[in-house]
Amino acid sequence: MANYDYDVLIIGAGPGGYVAAIRAAQLGLKTACVESRATLGGTCLNVGCIPSKALLHGSELFDEVQNGHFATWGITATPTLDLGKMMAEKTKAVGELTGGIEFLFKKNKVTWLKGHAAFEDAHTVNVAGEKVTAKDIVIATGSSVTPLPGVTVDNAGKRIVDSTGALDLDEVPEHLVVIGGGVIGLELGSVWRRLGAKVTVVEFLDQLLPGMDGEVRKEAGKIFKKQGMELMLSHKVTGAKVDGKTVSLTVEKSAGGDEQTITASHVLVAIGRRPNTDGLALDKAGLALNARGQIETDDDFRTAVPGIWAIGDVVPGPMLAHKAMDEGHAVAENMAGHTGIVNRDVIPSVVYTAPEIAGVGITEEQAKERGLAVKVGKFPMSANSRAKANRDTTGFVKVIADAETDRVLGVWMIASLAGSMIAQTVQAMEFGATSEDIALTSHAHPTHAEAVKEAAIAVTGKPIHM
Ligand code: FAD
Ligand code: NAI
Repeated sequence: MANYDYDVLIIGAGPGGYVAAIRAAQLGLKTACVESRATLGGTCLNVGCIPSKALLHGSELFDEVQNGHFATWGITATPTLDLGKMMAEKTKAVGELTGGIEFLFKKNKVTWLKGHAAFEDAHTVNVAGEKVTAKDIVIATGSSVTPLPGVTVDNAGKRIVDSTGALDLDEVPEHLVVIGGGVIGLELGSVWRRLGAKVTVVEFLDQLLPGMDGEVRKEAGKIFKKQGMELMLSHKVTGAKVDGKTVSLTVEKSAGGDEQTITASHVLVAIGRRPNTDGLALDKAGLALNARGQIETDDDFRTAVPGIWAIGDVVPGPMLAHKAMDEGHAVAENMAGHTGIVNRDVIPSVVYTAPEIAGVGITEEQAKERGLAVKVGKFPMSANSRAKANRDTTGFVKVIADAETDRVLGVWMIASLAGSMIAQTVQAMEFGATSEDIALTSHAHPTHAEAVKEAAIAVTGKPIHM
């Protein structure tokens, strides 16, 4: 048996890599994690989930005062914005959390190897000129922004930015054009709209939020429009030119034609993300990519090369932090000879706008495509007593269940607290629940979560409060 430096070497310290490293060390494996960034935590903690949620929270507080919600409750206030302070608070949150991972690495005796990793062979990587060997290597290198030809991102210039730049603007844009009506576009578009920017979203498809349930997408479009976002659906940007503080964009219909020029003070490119594999020298390890540039694995996260595993955004599946974390945990269990499983059918997704948008499992459209007979139950938040009391009645809950077995196949919702409400349905689906199981489960009153129970009742019967 070869003598390796480590039992396990993980490349990348994002949610996938750091969880894999900590779990592997907890299971008694000698573990190192290579990270080229100055701080641990990957995209999620440094330039993704955490800073975006911090700004969503701060900007929502500002918006609550501005948009009349305070006035509804007889409170008047004139808010002023100190953007520098808001950004500093976001940076503080990021620092505390990335520092927390460093603490956890030390506590669990995970060695952080600083630098960029490139394979030399299936058991050897080069990190900052040093050869490091391991019995098992996990690729958890994540993803980065997909570039848009003709629209060059320059985060330092702060005019045409990607999500990283949009999290760090030093002024509120006068007019922000967001290219891409997906999760990033809507979350960060919401941040800047709330802080005072005019926001135009240019989306290639005829609806926002691809992948989500059709009714949810339609309703989301109405809500964002009502909030003041201009939506240019079925349009694409074909070029952008910066001239001082103005960006001129050429926009045309997705199918081509009707070219027009729109001007903006700032542009956010958010048309998706692609796996990070450049500079890894995968060929030296004998690994190939699939047509989408991803590393394929089996259900245990083994790649085609024995001893090499892969998880997170670099493998197929939704690019979500919790999915990466679950895979990180599972791959560590598998490397240690235990059983690590991730149920790919039950991974929730949440858009942290106001209201929040959340879903798990299949959409009604997917049920149709797969020829599945389903029953659907819906309940509006306007009939939920807590939402009514709080005056936040936008949205609905939709439960999709198998017509024959009643097993819940998908749940979709728009509601102020959808990101928290989805959790009970994820757990129910994980346990193979029927809509009746949810309908007969006691839900505290008055809570927004009661809308889930009522939507479940609506699958086979009649909700009480509608
Ligand atoms: P990453 O987090 O991308 O980490 C990979 C790490 O590997 C990076 O730190 C990188 O520097 C390092 N690396 C890459 N190559 C090498 C190499 N060769 N050598 C050394 N190190 C290397 N998901 C959610 O679930 N919820 C959210 O709210 C959410 N918000 C987001 C907001 C934004 C603006 C963005 C951009 C993303 C958001 N995501 C969110 C997605 C989430 O960030 C990713 O799904 C998650 O970070 C993927 O984790 P990962 O471990 O696979 O990779
Ligand atoms: P996305 O895939 O969510 O949305 C990209 C959008 O851009 C799509 O609607 C697509 O149709 C559109 N598009 C593509 N090309 C276009 C073009 N040329 N012109 C106009 N529109 C175009 O990708 P996004 O928003 O960049 O996010 C990347 C990833 O990060 C997602 O996979 C998401 O899961 C993850 N993320 C998750 C968050 C969360 O869980 N709350 C928050 C932010 C990101």
